[in-house]
Amino acid sequence: MTPGNEELKVFYGRSHPELGEKIVKQLGLKAGEIKISSFAGGEIYTRIKENVRGQHCVVFQTCTQKVNEDLMELFIIVDAMKRSSAKSITAVIPYFGYARQDRKAASREPISARLIADLLTTAGVGRVITIDMHSDQIQGFFNIPFDHLTAMPIFEEYIKSKKLPNPVVVAPDTGRAKVAKKLADRIGAGLAILHKVRSAHHQSEVTHLVGEVKGKTVIITDDMIDTAGTATAGVNVLRKEGCNPDIYMVATHGLFSPPAVDRFKEAKLKEVVVTDTLPIINEKQFPGLKILSTAELLSEAIRRNYENRSISSLFD
Ligand code: R5P
Repeated sequence: MTPGNEELKVFYGRSHPELGEKIVKQLGLKAGEIKISSFAGGEIYTRIKENVRGQHCVVFQTCTQKVNEDLMELFIIVDAMKRSSAKSITAVIPYFGYARQDRKAASREPISARLIADLLTTAGVGRVITIDMHSDQIQGFFNIPFDHLTAMPIFEEYIKSKKLPNPVVVAPDTGRAKVAKKLADRIGAGLAILHKVRSAHHQSEVTHLVGEVKGKTVIITDDMIDTAGTATAGVNVLRKEGCNPDIYMVATHGLFSPPAVDRFKEAKLKEVVVTDTLPIINEKQFPGLKILSTAELLSEAIRRNYENRSISSLFD
């Protein structure tokens, strides 16, 4: 008896088919066949339409504004795979929803990121691949292998190609200072840090600026843009301090929940650069928006996992 070939099969859910398809193409594969639909009552139905017994299955699903549906869909796809005897199941979740709820910041709050981790493993996920999560520590919520990729090399290459005069990387809050420093080092720029306070979930105010921005080209960096409160709160402060009029922003995940687009139109940044970890529909587009693709990075990570090759060397 000879064991069957352990093939790589990549499936994607309904959250971001464009990126799912790009990844599959980069890998030189055809998307795994799957039926996904919703019942009138809102429940999701799924059926894997090809044999996955003994195969290495990858499920691609990001977390859009329909995050709860996206996650539920992912759970039941994985459940179907597990019950169909897949050899391994990897969840590729470029934007990991609920990551901001990674601790009890006030009494009687949940730690939702931990709950999502538990639900993923209960469903049958054996490995997670994601990009620039809100905090590195979330990896510790999982007891399975976890590949935490970063879009930093993509931004580094793009910023370097712009040859910006006298650049300074600005962290929009103290939580982002470490990552901002890494980016500053990679592009040979200075570093400045804003101190942000939140009066409500989507209201940010900047109270302090640490570092020199006068006469410099500011590049604000963050993991994500949701309502753009954080992104735009510091812009007036930076302009008042005399930075160059052309301000840039780079952030991995562009959720662009209202009123993000209005805020950016008003703030008039030169460029807001995000990746395609989330679908960016027409209504979310505005002058100066630039979208860079993560398809190559994600497909390479999937390939290296399948071939048991190093992933960290992707970032050397
Ligand atoms: C918070 O610490 C995150 O890193 C982001 O800065 C924040 O979640 C972005 O949200 P918004 O765009 O609504 O300010």
